Amino acid sequence: MQNTATPSEPSRRDFLAATAVGAASLTAVSSSLHAGLFASGSDLLKVGLIGCGGRGTGAAEQALNADPATELVALGDIFEDATQRARRSLTRMFNKAGASPRVTLSDDTCYSGFDNYLRVIEKSDVVLLATTPHFRPQHLRAAVEAGKHVFCEKPVAVDAPGVRSVMESSQMAQAKGLSLVSGLCWRYHPGKQATFEQIKGGLIGEIVSMQCSYMTGGVWDPRRTRDKCSSEMEYQIRNWYYYTWLSGDFNVEQHIHSLDKMMWAMNDEVPATISGSGGRQVRTDDKYGNIYDHFDIVYTWPNGVKAFARCRHWPNCENEVEDYIIGTKGRVDVMSHKIEDHAGNLLWKYDGPDGDMYQIEHNELFASIREGKPLNNGDYMCKSTMLAIAGRMAGYTGQRLTWDAVMNSKEDLTPQAYEWGDHPVPTVAIPGKTPFV
Ligand SMILES: NC(=O)c1ccc[n+]([C@@H]2O[C@H](COP(=O)([O-])OP(=O)(O)OC[C@H]3O[C@@H](n4cnc5c(N)ncnc54)[C@H](O)[C@@H]3O)[C@@H](O)[C@H]2O)c1
Repeated sequence: MQNTATPSEPSRRDFLAATAVGAASLTAVSSSLHAGLFASGSDLLKVGLIGCGGRGTGAAEQALNADPATELVALGDIFEDATQRARRSLTRMFNKAGASPRVTLSDDTCYSGFDNYLRVIEKSDVVLLATTPHFRPQHLRAAVEAGKHVFCEKPVAVDAPGVRSVMESSQMAQAKGLSLVSGLCWRYHPGKQATFEQIKGGLIGEIVSMQCSYMTGGVWDPRRTRDKCSSEMEYQIRNWYYYTWLSGDFNVEQHIHSLDKMMWAMNDEVPATISGSGGRQVRTDDKYGNIYDHFDIVYTWPNGVKAFARCRHWPNCENEVEDYIIGTKGRVDVMSHKIEDHAGNLLWKYDGPDGDMYQIEHNELFASIREGKPLNNGDYMCKSTMLAIAGRMAGYTGQRLTWDAVMNSKEDLTPQAYEWGDHPVPTVAIPGKTPFV
């Protein structure tokens, strides 16, 4: 089954490879299940998916693969065509002749429209949130209020009020004993986990600086023209990637994976200041909404550590997706899981299994539910999302910003109303003129 993996995302290799580690986690889940959790015969976990695009369909597949006693009982998407596509694909994958169906959907349990999420949440024990990022805070709050376990794709918000709301929801999930697993999938990748263990164990000494880059040719071209949409709202949601209010901009939607590794290295301590630049040089046509196509941001921590973070979407240019962490005693090539001293001598290299991080995160989510040991990734998913939003704010305004200022930002990208009709066409930010709000 394909995932969404736009060129923007970790390589298909990472989530297609079924490896020894994925299998090991799965075995751990199965043994805990066989240890008596099914004794009552009523341990079915009902899964609901909200956001039936590529990633959501992939997440549903991973959820059903993670635990044998799961059924996909409800689908929600703002567009009916998307629910139908996901329904066909998942039914084909999981309902086999002679076996009990794992996908138990009917026309009455596939929901569309702005309130689809409420119906899905009502029907489910575990909710998978994989819509366009803008809607995540609203959907997460509703799921947690209803007492449901959640898999929550990244980024978790597009503005600071959204992040603050998700922080509250995460705390609420913790208080209610609900599992909340983040789609910041590298944190579940065995090679990355081993590499960060070495960093935290002191192999490179004290961290001095970090560099991360996410430079690719871009993602999908706008999917629908205005004349094929019933309203401006439909047009923008169909082409969500290109609108800051929906995606957060591409550094938030995509580069967050690299920024999250910087936060991981810093033990999720937040930086003091954020400054940098950005703009749109190549992706200038109106059809590309109002997002930028490049950012160059410097994050500075209170102890002087700096992260140099750059990302761009420029076709026909050199691509680079790399993360480096430099310490007093050595340097880490995170993507290659390799550590050298400053003379270039190899200090450590990961030689364990690759691992399907997309599967592992679901294995761990369901194991945590079964074992009654809730997982909560709320803290880092909020901070890493805010880090990315802060970079966008610094790029859009051209100002040096403090963490406190961005965390307390009042910029709220929520539209006047969630309804099919007119919606203002947002303008492109101009550094030096666009104010920090
Ligand atoms: N962790 C990863 O590696 C990874 C990989 C790909 C995508 N993602 C994330 O997953 C999310 C979805 O990305 P995608 O590539 O699947 O995009 P997509 O466009 O394929 O799917 C998004 C779906 O959400 C639907 N949607 C929009 N607003 C909605 C609403 N209010 N209610 C219900 N559905 C709504 C859209 O109609 C669409 O079908 C994004 O946040 C993206 O950043 C994460």
